[in-house]
Amino acid sequence: MTQQADSNVFYAQGWKTDYLHAEYGEGIYLYDHQGQQYLDAIGGTHCITIGYGVDEIAQAMVEQANKVSFTHKVKFTSDAQEELATLIADMAPDELRHVLFVTGGSTANEMAMQLAHYYHIARGKPSKYRVIGRWHSYHGRTTATLSMSGSLFARRSDMLHYQHDFPHIQAPHCYQCPYQHVNPECELTCATELARTIEQEGADTISAFIAEPIVGGAGSAITPPPGYYEKIREICDTYDILFIAEEVITGFGRTGKNFGIQHWDVSPDLITSAKGLSSGYAPMGCVILRENVAETFFASQRKGVPTFVTYSGHPISCAAALAVQKYIQQNQLIEQCQQRGDYLKQALSQLAYSQELMGDVRGKGLLLGVEFVQNKGTHQPLPRQQQFTETLVKTAFDNGLILRGRPGTGTSLDGDHILLSPPFVISETECDELVERLASSIKQTCKLTGLSS
Ligand SMILES: Cc1ncc(COP(=O)(O)O)c(C=O)c1O
Repeated sequence: MTQQADSNVFYAQGWKTDYLHAEYGEGIYLYDHQGQQYLDAIGGTHCITIGYGVDEIAQAMVEQANKVSFTHKVKFTSDAQEELATLIADMAPDELRHVLFVTGGSTANEMAMQLAHYYHIARGKPSKYRVIGRWHSYHGRTTATLSMSGSLFARRSDMLHYQHDFPHIQAPHCYQCPYQHVNPECELTCATELARTIEQEGADTISAFIAEPIVGGAGSAITPPPGYYEKIREICDTYDILFIAEEVITGFGRTGKNFGIQHWDVSPDLITSAKGLSSGYAPMGCVILRENVAETFFASQRKGVPTFVTYSGHPISCAAALAVQKYIQQNQLIEQCQQRGDYLKQALSQLAYSQELMGDVRGKGLLLGVEFVQNKGTHQPLPRQQQFTETLVKTAFDNGLILRGRPGTGTSLDGDHILLSPPFVISETECDELVERLASSIKQTCKLTGLSS
Protein backbone atom coordinates (compact mmCIF):
# COMPACT_ATOMS: atom_id res chain seq x y z
CA MET A 1 0.00 0.00 0.00
CA THR A 2 1.34 3.43 -0.93
CA GLN A 3 0.09 6.63 0.67
CA GLN A 4 -0.12 9.71 -1.53
CA ALA A 5 1.73 11.59 1.23
CA ASP A 6 4.74 9.23 0.92
CA SER A 7 4.82 9.03 -2.87
CA ASN A 8 6.45 11.06 -5.62
CA VAL A 9 3.67 10.05 -8.00
CA PHE A 10 1.00 12.70 -8.46
CA TYR A 11 -2.12 10.54 -8.39
CA ALA A 12 -4.51 13.30 -9.47
CA GLN A 13 -7.57 11.80 -7.73
CA GLY A 14 -7.83 14.21 -4.82
CA TRP A 15 -10.41 12.13 -2.97
CA LYS A 16 -8.16 9.11 -2.51
CA THR A 17 -5.16 8.89 -0.19
CA ASP A 18 -3.85 5.33 -0.50
CA TYR A 19 -3.11 2.98 -3.37
CA LEU A 20 -2.93 -0.80 -3.51
CA HIS A 21 -0.16 -2.31 -5.58
CA ALA A 22 -1.47 -4.52 -8.37
CA GLU A 23 0.80 -7.56 -8.18
CA TYR A 24 -0.43 -9.67 -11.09
CA GLY A 25 -3.46 -10.46 -13.22
CA GLU A 26 -4.87 -13.70 -14.56
CA GLY A 27 -7.95 -14.00 -16.78
CA ILE A 28 -10.62 -11.71 -15.33
CA TYR A 29 -8.95 -11.37 -11.91
CA LEU A 30 -6.41 -8.95 -10.47
CA TYR A 31 -4.41 -9.69 -7.30
CA ASP A 32 -2.92 -7.09 -4.98
CA HIS A 33 0.31 -7.22 -2.95
CA GLN A 34 -1.51 -8.94 -0.07
CA GLY A 35 -2.94 -11.66 -2.32
CA GLN A 36 -6.46 -10.19 -2.25
CA GLN A 37 -8.40 -11.13 -5.40
CA TYR A 38 -10.55 -8.66 -7.40
CA LEU A 39 -13.01 -9.63 -10.12
CA ASP A 40 -12.44 -7.00 -12.78
CA ALA A 41 -15.97 -6.31 -14.05
CA ILE A 42 -14.79 -3.30 -16.08
CA GLY A 43 -11.79 -4.88 -17.84
CA GLY A 44 -9.20 -2.30 -16.70
CA THR A 45 -11.16 0.66 -17.95
CA HIS A 46 -13.18 -1.07 -20.66
CA CYS A 47 -10.00 -2.12 -22.49
CA ILE A 48 -9.05 -5.66 -21.39
CA THR A 49 -10.65 -8.08 -23.83
CA ILE A 50 -8.46 -11.22 -23.83
CA GLY A 51 -7.85 -11.19 -20.07
CA TYR A 52 -4.74 -10.56 -18.00
CA GLY A 53 -1.54 -12.56 -18.24
CA VAL A 54 -1.62 -13.96 -21.79
CA ASP A 55 1.94 -15.09 -22.40
CA GLU A 56 1.82 -14.92 -26.25
CA ILE A 57 1.36 -11.16 -26.09
CA ALA A 58 4.31 -10.62 -23.76
CA GLN A 59 6.43 -12.83 -26.07
CA ALA A 60 5.42 -10.85 -29.17
CA MET A 61 6.37 -7.59 -27.43
CA VAL A 62 9.77 -8.97 -26.34
CA GLU A 63 10.49 -10.25 -29.85
CA GLN A 64 9.65 -6.85 -31.37
CA ALA A 65 11.74 -5.00 -28.76
CA ASN A 66 14.69 -7.23 -29.62
CA LYS A 67 14.25 -6.57 -33.36
CA VAL A 68 13.60 -2.83 -33.39
CA SER A 69 12.05 -0.85 -30.54
CA PHE A 70 11.31 2.43 -32.33
CA THR A 71 10.95 3.72 -35.86
CA HIS A 72 10.66 7.32 -37.05
CA LYS A 73 7.30 7.34 -38.82
CA VAL A 74 8.32 9.74 -41.56
CA LYS A 75 11.10 7.47 -42.80
CA PHE A 76 10.26 3.89 -41.77
CA THR A 77 7.44 1.47 -41.25
CA SER A 78 7.57 -1.94 -39.54
CA ASP A 79 6.21 -5.38 -40.44
CA ALA A 80 4.02 -5.23 -37.34
CA GLN A 81 2.45 -1.90 -38.36
CA GLU A 82 1.79 -3.04 -41.93
CA GLU A 83 0.29 -6.37 -40.90
CA LEU A 84 -1.85 -4.75 -38.21
CA ALA A 85 -3.24 -2.13 -40.64
CA THR A 86 -4.24 -4.89 -43.09
CA LEU A 87 -5.91 -6.88 -40.33
CA ILE A 88 -7.86 -3.79 -39.17
CA ALA A 89 -8.92 -2.89 -42.74
CA ASP A 90 -10.26 -6.46 -43.10
CA MET A 91 -12.26 -6.11 -39.87
CA ALA A 92 -13.69 -2.65 -40.62
CA PRO A 93 -16.80 -1.90 -42.70
CA ASP A 94 -16.07 -2.23 -46.44
CA GLU A 95 -15.01 1.23 -47.50
CA LEU A 96 -12.77 1.94 -44.47
CA ARG A 97 -9.33 0.84 -45.67
CA HIS A 98 -6.62 3.17 -44.30
CA VAL A 99 -5.34 3.25 -40.72
CA LEU A 100 -3.54 6.04 -38.86
CA PHE A 101 -1.99 4.80 -35.61
CA VAL A 102 -1.86 7.01 -32.53
CA THR A 103 -1.34 6.49 -28.79
CA GLY A 104 -4.84 6.21 -27.30
CA GLY A 105 -8.43 7.41 -27.35
CA SER A 106 -7.86 11.15 -26.87
CA THR A 107 -5.22 11.31 -29.61
CA ALA A 108 -7.43 9.26 -31.95
CA ASN A 109 -10.32 11.72 -31.53
CA GLU A 110 -8.06 14.76 -31.69
CA MET A 111 -6.58 13.50 -34.99
CA ALA A 112 -10.00 12.62 -36.38
CA MET A 113 -11.12 16.18 -35.69
CA GLN A 114 -8.05 17.54 -37.50
CA LEU A 115 -8.43 15.10 -40.40
CA ALA A 116 -12.06 16.17 -40.85
CA HIS A 117 -10.98 19.81 -41.10
CA TYR A 118 -8.08 18.98 -43.46
CA TYR A 119 -10.55 17.03 -45.61
CA HIS A 120 -12.74 20.12 -46.06
CA ILE A 121 -9.71 22.38 -46.60
CA ALA A 122 -8.54 20.04 -49.37
CA ARG A 123 -11.99 20.32 -50.99
CA GLY A 124 -12.00 24.12 -50.88
CA LYS A 125 -14.22 24.49 -47.80
CA PRO A 126 -11.84 25.80 -45.09
CA SER A 127 -14.63 27.34 -42.98
CA LYS A 128 -15.87 23.85 -42.00
CA TYR A 129 -14.02 23.18 -38.72
CA ARG A 130 -16.54 22.68 -35.92
CA VAL A 131 -17.52 19.24 -34.65
CA ILE A 132 -21.00 18.52 -33.32
CA GLY A 133 -21.00 16.16 -30.32
CA ARG A 134 -23.71 14.72 -28.07
CA TRP A 135 -24.53 15.17 -24.41
CA HIS A 136 -23.68 12.14 -22.19
CA SER A 137 -20.53 11.43 -24.16
CA TYR A 138 -16.80 11.39 -23.45
CA HIS A 139 -14.09 11.72 -26.08
CA GLY A 140 -10.93 12.43 -24.11
CA ARG A 141 -9.00 14.76 -21.88
CA THR A 142 -7.32 17.13 -24.34
CA THR A 143 -9.04 20.47 -24.62
CA ALA A 144 -10.32 19.76 -28.14
CA THR A 145 -11.70 16.33 -27.20
CA LEU A 146 -13.26 17.78 -24.04
CA SER A 147 -14.92 20.34 -26.29
CA MET A 148 -16.52 17.52 -28.27
CA SER A 149 -17.46 15.66 -25.07
CA GLY A 150 -20.80 16.17 -23.41
CA SER A 151 -20.24 14.80 -19.94
CA LEU A 152 -21.03 17.10 -17.06
CA PHE A 153 -19.25 14.66 -14.79
CA ALA A 154 -15.98 15.03 -16.77
CA ARG A 155 -16.11 18.64 -15.55
CA ARG A 156 -15.68 20.09 -19.03
CA SER A 157 -17.02 23.34 -17.58
CA ASP A 158 -13.77 23.78 -15.59
CA MET A 159 -11.92 24.10 -18.90
CA LEU A 160 -14.38 26.38 -20.66
CA HIS A 161 -11.72 29.05 -21.31
CA TYR A 162 -9.81 26.64 -23.50
CA GLN A 163 -12.73 25.07 -25.26
CA HIS A 164 -13.80 25.29 -28.86
CA ASP A 165 -17.23 26.50 -29.84
CA PHE A 166 -18.60 23.01 -30.60
CA PRO A 167 -22.37 22.44 -30.44
CA HIS A 168 -24.02 19.38 -28.84
CA ILE A 169 -27.26 17.54 -29.47
CA GLN A 170 -29.21 15.39 -27.01
CA ALA A 171 -28.26 11.73 -26.55
CA PRO A 172 -30.59 9.05 -27.93
CA HIS A 173 -31.45 7.96 -24.39
CA CYS A 174 -34.93 6.42 -24.68
CA TYR A 175 -35.04 5.46 -20.98
CA GLN A 176 -34.71 9.14 -19.96
CA CYS A 177 -35.85 10.73 -23.24
CA PRO A 178 -34.97 14.44 -23.05
CA TYR A 179 -38.06 15.18 -25.19
CA GLN A 180 -40.27 12.87 -23.12
CA HIS A 181 -41.15 11.05 -26.33
CA VAL A 182 -41.64 7.33 -26.83
CA ASN A 183 -40.00 5.32 -29.57
CA PRO A 184 -41.05 4.53 -32.33
CA GLU A 185 -43.84 7.17 -32.28
CA CYS A 186 -41.15 9.84 -31.76
CA GLU A 187 -39.87 9.31 -35.32
CA LEU A 188 -36.36 9.79 -33.95
CA THR A 189 -36.56 13.40 -32.79
CA CYS A 190 -33.07 12.97 -31.30
CA ALA A 191 -31.61 12.27 -34.76
CA THR A 192 -33.49 15.02 -36.63
CA GLU A 193 -32.17 17.39 -33.97
CA LEU A 194 -28.82 17.07 -35.76
CA ALA A 195 -30.28 18.64 -38.92
CA ARG A 196 -31.85 21.46 -36.92
CA THR A 197 -28.57 22.16 -35.10
CA ILE A 198 -26.60 22.20 -38.35
CA GLU A 199 -29.10 24.65 -39.87
CA GLN A 200 -29.00 26.91 -36.81
CA GLU A 201 -25.21 26.84 -36.45
CA GLY A 202 -24.49 27.08 -40.18
CA ALA A 203 -23.51 24.05 -42.27
CA ASP A 204 -20.57 26.00 -43.70
CA THR A 205 -18.93 25.95 -40.24
CA ILE A 206 -19.48 22.25 -39.40
CA SER A 207 -16.90 19.63 -40.37
CA ALA A 208 -18.11 16.49 -38.58
CA PHE A 209 -20.50 14.81 -36.19
CA ILE A 210 -18.97 12.51 -33.56
CA ALA A 211 -20.82 9.82 -31.60
CA GLU A 212 -20.06 6.64 -29.68
CA PRO A 213 -22.28 4.02 -31.42
CA ILE A 214 -23.16 2.66 -27.97
CA VAL A 215 -22.23 5.13 -25.25
CA GLY A 216 -19.39 4.23 -22.87
CA GLY A 217 -18.77 5.48 -19.34
CA ALA A 218 -20.60 8.80 -19.70
CA GLY A 219 -23.92 7.06 -20.36
CA SER A 220 -23.33 3.40 -19.47
CA ALA A 221 -24.32 1.65 -22.70
CA ILE A 222 -27.05 4.04 -23.88
CA THR A 223 -28.10 2.23 -27.07
CA PRO A 224 -29.84 4.24 -29.81
CA PRO A 225 -33.04 2.77 -31.26
CA PRO A 226 -33.21 1.09 -34.70
CA GLY A 227 -32.90 3.54 -37.58
CA TYR A 228 -31.04 6.18 -35.55
CA TYR A 229 -27.64 6.02 -37.28
CA GLU A 230 -29.22 5.51 -40.69
CA LYS A 231 -30.94 8.87 -40.19
CA ILE A 232 -27.73 10.45 -38.86
CA ARG A 233 -25.85 9.23 -41.95
CA GLU A 234 -28.49 10.73 -44.24
CA ILE A 235 -28.26 14.11 -42.46
CA CYS A 236 -24.44 14.13 -42.58
CA ASP A 237 -24.56 13.44 -46.34
CA THR A 238 -27.14 16.18 -46.92
CA TYR A 239 -24.95 18.81 -45.26
CA ASP A 240 -21.53 17.50 -46.41
CA ILE A 241 -20.44 16.61 -42.89
CA LEU A 242 -18.24 13.66 -41.95
CA PHE A 243 -19.64 11.06 -39.56
CA ILE A 244 -17.03 9.95 -37.00
CA ALA A 245 -17.96 6.70 -35.24
CA GLU A 246 -16.15 7.03 -31.90
CA GLU A 247 -15.32 3.42 -31.12
CA VAL A 248 -12.67 3.91 -28.44
CA ILE A 249 -14.57 1.40 -26.30
CA THR A 250 -16.90 -0.29 -28.79
CA GLY A 251 -14.23 -1.15 -31.38
CA PHE A 252 -12.60 -4.57 -31.73
CA GLY A 253 -15.42 -6.78 -30.59
CA ARG A 254 -16.68 -5.31 -27.32
CA THR A 255 -20.34 -5.23 -28.46
CA GLY A 256 -20.27 -8.66 -30.13
CA LYS A 257 -19.43 -7.30 -33.61
CA ASN A 258 -16.07 -6.06 -34.90
CA PHE A 259 -17.28 -2.46 -34.54
CA GLY A 260 -20.31 -1.13 -32.67
CA ILE A 261 -21.62 0.80 -35.68
CA GLN A 262 -22.13 -2.53 -37.47
CA HIS A 263 -25.28 -3.07 -35.39
CA TRP A 264 -26.81 -0.44 -37.71
CA ASP A 265 -26.86 -0.46 -41.50
CA VAL A 266 -24.45 2.42 -42.05
CA SER A 267 -20.83 3.04 -42.78
CA PRO A 268 -19.08 6.03 -41.16
CA ASP A 269 -16.38 8.21 -42.76
CA LEU A 270 -13.90 7.83 -39.91
CA ILE A 271 -13.72 5.33 -37.05
CA THR A 272 -11.62 6.12 -34.00
CA SER A 273 -10.65 3.34 -31.64
CA ALA A 274 -8.21 2.47 -28.87
CA LYS A 275 -8.76 0.36 -25.78
CA GLY A 276 -9.64 -3.13 -27.09
CA LEU A 277 -7.19 -2.74 -29.97
CA SER A 278 -4.31 -3.81 -27.73
CA SER A 279 -6.43 -5.15 -24.85
CA GLY A 280 -4.50 -2.84 -22.54
CA TYR A 281 -1.15 -4.60 -23.17
CA ALA A 282 0.36 -1.42 -24.69
CA PRO A 283 -0.79 2.17 -25.31
CA MET A 284 -2.44 2.21 -28.70
CA GLY A 285 -5.13 3.99 -30.70
CA CYS A 286 -6.11 4.40 -34.33
CA VAL A 287 -8.19 6.34 -36.83
CA ILE A 288 -9.59 4.34 -39.75
CA LEU A 289 -10.31 6.39 -42.87
CA ARG A 290 -12.88 5.71 -45.53
CA GLU A 291 -11.41 5.25 -49.02
CA ASN A 292 -12.79 8.51 -50.45
CA VAL A 293 -11.51 10.55 -47.46
CA ALA A 294 -8.01 9.09 -47.80
CA GLU A 295 -8.14 9.60 -51.60
CA THR A 296 -8.88 13.30 -51.03
CA PHE A 297 -5.56 13.61 -49.19
CA PHE A 298 -3.64 11.50 -51.73
CA ALA A 299 -4.95 13.73 -54.56
CA SER A 300 -4.42 17.01 -52.68
CA GLN A 301 -1.91 19.69 -53.75
CA ARG A 302 -0.80 19.93 -50.12
CA LYS A 303 1.78 17.33 -49.29
CA GLY A 304 0.44 15.18 -46.44
CA VAL A 305 -1.51 15.98 -43.29
CA PRO A 306 0.57 16.36 -40.11
CA THR A 307 -1.62 14.18 -37.91
CA PHE A 308 0.82 11.90 -36.15
CA VAL A 309 2.76 11.99 -32.91
CA THR A 310 6.17 10.64 -31.87
CA TYR A 311 4.81 7.27 -30.80
CA SER A 312 2.38 6.81 -33.72
CA GLY A 313 2.74 3.25 -34.98
CA HIS A 314 5.17 2.36 -32.20
CA PRO A 315 6.52 -1.07 -33.19
CA ILE A 316 6.08 -2.65 -29.74
CA SER A 317 2.50 -1.37 -29.46
CA CYS A 318 1.78 -2.61 -33.00
CA ALA A 319 3.27 -6.03 -32.15
CA ALA A 320 1.15 -6.21 -28.99
CA ALA A 321 -2.07 -5.20 -30.81
CA LEU A 322 -1.36 -7.62 -33.67
CA ALA A 323 -0.80 -10.50 -31.24
CA VAL A 324 -4.01 -9.55 -29.36
CA GLN A 325 -6.14 -9.45 -32.52
CA LYS A 326 -4.71 -12.76 -33.77
CA TYR A 327 -5.43 -14.32 -30.36
CA ILE A 328 -9.02 -13.06 -30.56
CA GLN A 329 -9.46 -14.54 -34.04
CA GLN A 330 -7.85 -17.87 -33.16
CA ASN A 331 -10.03 -18.28 -30.08
CA GLN A 332 -13.21 -16.84 -31.65
CA LEU A 333 -13.50 -14.41 -28.77
CA ILE A 334 -15.84 -11.92 -30.50
CA GLU A 335 -18.45 -14.68 -30.89
CA GLN A 336 -17.79 -15.62 -27.25
CA CYS A 337 -18.22 -11.96 -26.20
CA GLN A 338 -21.65 -11.92 -27.84
CA GLN A 339 -22.69 -15.18 -26.18
CA ARG A 340 -21.37 -14.28 -22.68
CA GLY A 341 -22.90 -10.81 -23.07
CA ASP A 342 -26.33 -12.34 -23.67
CA TYR A 343 -25.85 -14.58 -20.64
CA LEU A 344 -24.74 -11.73 -18.36
CA LYS A 345 -27.51 -9.39 -19.56
CA GLN A 346 -30.09 -12.06 -18.84
CA ALA A 347 -28.68 -12.57 -15.33
CA LEU A 348 -28.68 -8.80 -14.67
CA SER A 349 -32.25 -8.48 -15.95
CA GLN A 350 -33.28 -11.25 -13.58
CA LEU A 351 -31.61 -9.43 -10.69
CA ALA A 352 -33.43 -6.24 -11.73
CA TYR A 353 -36.81 -8.00 -11.24
CA SER A 354 -36.13 -8.36 -7.54
CA GLN A 355 -34.16 -5.16 -7.13
CA GLU A 356 -36.15 -1.98 -6.42
CA LEU A 357 -33.58 0.47 -7.78
CA MET A 358 -32.32 -1.31 -10.92
CA GLY A 359 -34.41 0.54 -13.48
CA ASP A 360 -32.74 -0.21 -16.79
CA VAL A 361 -30.39 -2.95 -17.99
CA ARG A 362 -29.05 -2.17 -21.47
CA GLY A 363 -26.25 -2.61 -23.99
CA LYS A 364 -24.88 -5.21 -26.36
CA GLY A 365 -22.19 -7.89 -26.09
CA LEU A 366 -20.04 -7.29 -23.04
CA LEU A 367 -20.79 -3.56 -22.83
CA LEU A 368 -23.69 -3.54 -20.41
CA GLY A 369 -25.11 -0.68 -18.38
CA VAL A 370 -27.37 -0.52 -15.36
CA GLU A 371 -29.26 2.66 -14.48
CA PHE A 372 -30.51 3.06 -10.91
CA VAL A 373 -33.68 5.06 -10.23
CA GLN A 374 -35.85 5.84 -7.23
CA ASN A 375 -39.05 5.02 -9.12
CA LYS A 376 -39.15 2.30 -11.76
CA GLY A 377 -42.52 3.49 -13.03
CA THR A 378 -41.54 7.11 -13.72
CA HIS A 379 -37.76 6.48 -14.12
CA GLN A 380 -37.17 9.31 -11.65
CA PRO A 381 -33.43 9.51 -10.84
CA LEU A 382 -32.14 9.07 -7.29
CA PRO A 383 -31.39 12.28 -5.40
CA ARG A 384 -27.77 13.18 -6.21
CA GLN A 385 -26.92 13.95 -2.60
CA GLN A 386 -27.52 10.24 -1.84
CA GLN A 387 -24.23 9.47 -3.71
CA PHE A 388 -25.52 6.03 -4.67
CA THR A 389 -23.04 5.28 -7.49
CA GLU A 390 -20.01 6.41 -5.51
CA THR A 391 -21.04 4.32 -2.48
CA LEU A 392 -21.78 1.27 -4.65
CA VAL A 393 -18.41 1.44 -6.43
CA LYS A 394 -16.58 1.71 -3.10
CA THR A 395 -18.61 -1.03 -1.40
CA ALA A 396 -18.13 -3.39 -4.37
CA PHE A 397 -14.37 -2.81 -4.28
CA ASP A 398 -14.33 -3.79 -0.60
CA ASN A 399 -16.19 -6.95 -1.72
CA GLY A 400 -13.53 -7.74 -4.35
CA LEU A 401 -15.54 -6.48 -7.33
CA ILE A 402 -14.12 -3.70 -9.51
CA LEU A 403 -16.92 -1.47 -10.82
CA ARG A 404 -17.04 1.91 -12.47
CA GLY A 405 -19.94 4.27 -12.43
CA ARG A 406 -20.71 7.90 -12.98
CA PRO A 407 -23.79 9.94 -12.37
CA GLY A 408 -25.16 12.31 -14.99
CA THR A 409 -27.67 10.67 -17.32
CA GLY A 410 -30.49 12.80 -15.96
CA THR A 411 -30.91 16.47 -16.75
CA SER A 412 -28.06 17.59 -14.51
CA LEU A 413 -25.59 15.62 -12.43
CA ASP A 414 -28.30 13.20 -11.32
CA GLY A 415 -28.83 9.82 -12.97
CA ASP A 416 -26.84 6.98 -11.35
CA HIS A 417 -25.39 4.30 -13.60
CA ILE A 418 -22.64 1.70 -13.84
CA LEU A 419 -20.96 0.23 -16.92
CA LEU A 420 -19.91 -3.42 -16.93
CA SER A 421 -17.30 -4.52 -19.47
CA PRO A 422 -15.51 -7.66 -18.28
CA PRO A 423 -12.94 -9.40 -20.51
CA PHE A 424 -14.40 -11.57 -23.31
CA VAL A 425 -12.87 -14.65 -21.66
CA ILE A 426 -15.27 -14.48 -18.70
CA SER A 427 -16.99 -17.85 -18.17
CA GLU A 428 -20.68 -18.34 -17.33
CA THR A 429 -19.73 -19.31 -13.77
CA GLU A 430 -17.71 -16.10 -13.47
CA CYS A 431 -20.69 -14.12 -14.82
CA ASP A 432 -22.78 -15.65 -12.00
CA GLU A 433 -20.09 -14.71 -9.48
CA LEU A 434 -20.05 -11.13 -10.81
CA VAL A 435 -23.83 -10.84 -10.44
CA GLU A 436 -23.75 -12.33 -6.92
CA ARG A 437 -21.07 -9.86 -5.78
CA LEU A 438 -23.01 -7.02 -7.43
CA ALA A 439 -26.27 -8.05 -5.76
CA SER A 440 -24.76 -8.10 -2.29
CA SER A 441 -22.93 -4.82 -2.91
CA ILE A 442 -26.21 -3.16 -3.98
CA LYS A 443 -27.89 -4.46 -0.84
CA GLN A 444 -25.14 -3.07 1.39
CA THR A 445 -25.16 0.24 -0.50
CA CYS A 446 -28.90 0.60 0.02
CA LYS A 447 -28.38 0.13 3.75
CA LEU A 448 -25.51 2.64 3.80
CA THR A 449 -27.48 5.26 1.85
CA GLY A 450 -30.77 4.67 3.63
CA LEU A 451 -32.57 3.42 0.49
CA SER A 452 -34.78 0.33 0.31
CA SER A 453 -33.37 -2.52 -1.79
C1 LIG B 1 -15.42 6.63 -25.19
C2 LIG B 1 -14.06 7.16 -24.85
N1 LIG B 1 -13.45 7.97 -25.72
C3 LIG B 1 -12.23 8.49 -25.48
C4 LIG B 1 -11.55 8.18 -24.32
C5 LIG B 1 -10.18 8.75 -24.06
O1 LIG B 1 -9.24 7.75 -24.25
P1 LIG B 1 -7.78 7.86 -23.56
O2 LIG B 1 -8.00 7.89 -22.10
O3 LIG B 1 -7.08 6.61 -24.07
O4 LIG B 1 -7.14 9.08 -24.09
C6 LIG B 1 -12.14 7.32 -23.38
C7 LIG B 1 -11.45 7.00 -22.13
O5 LIG B 1 -11.97 6.48 -21.20
C8 LIG B 1 -13.44 6.80 -23.66
O6 LIG B 1 -14.05 6.01 -22.78
